[in-house]
Amino acid sequence: MPHTDTDTTRPRPAWLFREYEPVGVDLGTPEAVAAYDRNQGTDPGADDALLDRLGVGAGTRLVDLACGTGSLVVQAARRGAEAHGVDVSAEMLAFARARADRADVHAYWHRAGFLDYAHRAAPADVVTTKAALHQLPDFWKQQALLDAAALLRPGGTFYLWDVVFGFPPADAAERLQQWIDSVASPENQGFTRTDFETHVREEFSTYSWILEGMLERAGFDIVSHTSLSPTHGEFLCRRR
Ligand SMILES: C[S@@+](CC[C@H](N)C(=O)[O-])C[C@H]1O[C@@H](n2cnc3c(N)ncnc32)[C@H](O)[C@@H]1O
Repeated sequence: MPHTDTDTTRPRPAWLFREYEPVGVDLGTPEAVAAYDRNQGTDPGADDALLDRLGVGAGTRLVDLACGTGSLVVQAARRGAEAHGVDVSAEMLAFARARADRADVHAYWHRAGFLDYAHRAAPADVVTTKAALHQLPDFWKQQALLDAAALLRPGGTFYLWDVVFGFPPADAAERLQQWIDSVASPENQGFTRTDFETHVREEFSTYSWILEGMLERAGFDIVSHTSLSPTHGEFLCRRR
């Protein structure tokens, strides 16, 4: 199926965060993107379970911010949703488009960032972002959440899943080391110790209580917050 591919960005003032220069683990080559997709354990079944929870069906307008390799967008398109994938990475979008081609579904792909995506369609029913908001420092996360709220119709759903810290700040060093020690895989068998160390050192994961305040200030009511582990959390929100 043909894809609609638009360059939907807003003007970028000189002071805007450089979101096209991603931080942390390098995902800037087709090989790194393919490895990311394998390591992330992309699972259409899990995507479908999430889409069910979010009530995504035929005609739902969904925007997945920082869509990466596009699995959630493609699964949404398969069920007849108007599915938009937004990402700063041309390599990620190329992988996502190929996935949509294989599934023979139509989706809308936008090379744009959290901070400059210009949504030209009608307001979205559902906005999602998974494993990505941590790419922005906290000040810019707040801006990104305001922008995400502006994409949604009132009452629309916002879903956020990310590396989010739920442990007490005083325990950070111990908890982070425990996390890395327990999840790191050997080379070529998943995300490595170096990947997780780089995440903590160079990316911007933050505490769940900081995100709660940001979500509220962005105009969301938090319907549920689940701390999936001391280092991962999800928020299901409604736009006021
Ligand atoms: C770890 S991947 C997650 C991808 C996908 N959401 C998933 O769940 O597998 C992070 C993604 O965020 C994208 N990204 C990084 N900074 C971004 C930004 N400011 N705006 C949009 N996408 C961004 C990267 O290109 C990458 O595709």
